Amino acid sequence: MAGRVNGKVIMVTGAASGIGRATATLLAREGATVVLTDVTADAGRALARELGGPHVFIQHDVSDERQWQDVIGETQKLFGKLNGLVNNAGVSGPVPANSIETETLETWRKINSVNLEGVFLGCKHAIPAIREAGGGAIVNISSLAAMVATHQIPAYGAGKAGVRQLSKSVAMHCAFKGYKIRCNSVHPGVIVTPMGESMFKGDEREKAKYLRSIPLKTFGEPVDIGYAVLYLISDESKFVTGAEFIVDGGASAI
Ligand SMILES: NC(=O)c1ccc[n+]([C@@H]2O[C@H](COP(=O)([O-])OP(=O)(O)OC[C@H]3O[C@@H](n4cnc5c(N)ncnc54)[C@H](O)[C@@H]3O)[C@@H](O)[C@H]2O)c1
Repeated sequence: MAGRVNGKVIMVTGAASGIGRATATLLAREGATVVLTDVTADAGRALARELGGPHVFIQHDVSDERQWQDVIGETQKLFGKLNGLVNNAGVSGPVPANSIETETLETWRKINSVNLEGVFLGCKHAIPAIREAGGGAIVNISSLAAMVATHQIPAYGAGKAGVRQLSKSVAMHCAFKGYKIRCNSVHPGVIVTPMGESMFKGDEREKAKYLRSIPLKTFGEPVDIGYAVLYLISDESKFVTGAEFIVDGGASAI
C-alpha cells in the first residue's frame, strides 16, 4: 500500500524525544525519507538506527543559523532534495518560570532563541531548498499557549504566538511568490512528553485538576500531533495554507 508521504524527504527538528520522535516515526512509516535532527545526539541517533535506512540523524541546534545551512546542505547532498520541514524543536524553560515581573531577559532570550528564532531560521533556509525540489510544505509546532494566557511562562507563550503569526507570513509570502510551498501551524494542548509532564512538576493533584478541564478527559499522545503533521505535510492538504490546527482534546473550545 502506498504511504501518505511516499518519496518525500522531510526534516523533523527535535526528533529525539516526544512529539518529534512520534512524528518522525510516523512519517517514516508512511513512506518519507526522514532527516531527524536534535541537539541531543544519543537518543536521535538511536531512533534513526531503529527506523533503519534511508533515515538519518544529524546533530543540530536550531538556534544556530550556520547549523541550519549545514543541515539543509547535507540533506540535499545525501538525498538530492528537501520536500518538507517540521519545525518541532522547543524548550519550555523552568515551570513555573516566573511572572512577567520576575522573568529575566536572559531566560526570555534563551527560550525564544529556540522556540521563535529557531522556527524563523528554519523557514528562511528551507524555503529555497523546498523550491528547488519543486514545492512542498512547512509545519511549525506552536502551542495552545499561542492563544491563551501563559502567566507563569510568559516567554514561552509569546514565542509560540510569534510562531503562529510567522507561519501565516511564510504561507502568504510563498503563495504570493508562486513558490508552491504551504506553511501551517499546529497547536497542541497538553501532550504526554517530558515537556508536557514538566508542567506539573510531579504534582499529581495539579495534573488531575488540569485533566478535568479537558473535555475529552485525557491528555494527548505524541502521535496525536504526528497525525496532524502528517496531514499538513502531505499533499492531502494541498489547499491548506496559513491555517492553524488545534489538537487539544477540546480544551480551547469551552
Ligand atoms: N508536550 C506538550 O504538552 C506540548 C504542548 C504544546 C506545544 N508543544 C511543543 O511541541 C514541541 C515538542 O515538544 P515535546 O513535548 O515533544 O518536548 P520534548 O522535550 O519531549 O522534546 C523536545 C526536543 O527538542 C529538542 N531541542 C531542544 N532545544 C533544541 C535546540 N536548540 N535545537 C534542536 N533541538 C532542540 C530536545 O533535545 C528534545 O529532543 C515543542 O515545540 C513544544 O513547545 C508541546
